[in-house]
Amino acid sequence: MTSPSPLASAALVFGASGGIGRALVSNLLSDSRYSCVYAVSREPDFQSLSSHCTLIQADPLDPDSVGRAVENIKHPLTRVIITTGMLHDSVQKPEKSWRALETETLARSFAINCTAPIMVLKALIPLLPRTGRCEIAALGARVASISDNRNGGWYGYRASKAALAMLIKTLSIELARTHPDCICALLHPGTVDTAMSKPFQSGVSPEKLFTPEFSASALLSVLDGLVPSQSGGHFAWDGSPIPA
Ligand SMILES: NC(=O)c1ccc[n+]([C@@H]2O[C@H](COP(=O)([O-])OP(=O)(O)OC[C@H]3O[C@@H](n4cnc5c(N)ncnc54)[C@H](OP(=O)(O)O)[C@@H]3O)[C@@H](O)[C@H]2O)c1
Repeated sequence: MTSPSPLASAALVFGASGGIGRALVSNLLSDSRYSCVYAVSREPDFQSLSSHCTLIQADPLDPDSVGRAVENIKHPLTRVIITTGMLHDSVQKPEKSWRALETETLARSFAINCTAPIMVLKALIPLLPRTGRCEIAALGARVASISDNRNGGWYGYRASKAALAMLIKTLSIELARTHPDCICALLHPGTVDTAMSKPFQSGVSPEKLFTPEFSASALLSVLDGLVPSQSGGHFAWDGSPIPA
């Protein structure tokens, strides 16, 4: 096997088995700027995607497994997207009322939606080039906007994504000093037809329910268009800024 050129750049998607994660990987594999796309997931299962797709198994909640994943990355990373997020699963549902608040489920929402993405970014920052453009992004959500919160509910999801927005903003300020061409952003994918939105799609009009492919393509265009002075912001799939 030939070793990768030290100058070749790579993209990485963490949370690559989810609906939007898979579509991001697939889109990035057709982008000639990247000689390799790392697809990191708890259970990577799409071996045949392409010869320049490298699958890595890692759990974002397990620092040892993230550390082992990083050891497998052989290229500088010029685009990193963390898709990790949870609104509901077999353990918990989004809270409709304060009566449903529980210490354990709130802590779990914060662990998956906020701590996991920032700790993965912490592990990956040493692989970013110090000079030259690079982008690091995590998937946010419009419902994380405090000023846009008109419906209430979804306490843990909203709050953990809002906290992630603060972590991304804070990270962007520090990275501007050491990686002046790096753009750090939170991206809202729209309402996307994935397992996450399935239980909540009935009130969504068809034109507002995006395919994962449409959303992934839109998010990658947004990343392409961002400049370092916008680093730290939260942007929707159409490039519009989402207020804190
Ligand atoms: N779908 C929407 O309408 C919508 C709207 C706004 C924001 N978002 C955000 O977009 C991102 C992707 O969502 P999606 O729609 O693609 O949902 P999805 O198909 O459920 O994917 C969720 C991703 O999060 C990871 N994940 C879920 N539970 C986890 C856990 N317990 N521990 C570790 N990792 C876990 C999974 O990683 P693995 O690859 O390891 O399985 C998966 O890639 C999320 O951050 C979500 O909050 C989605």
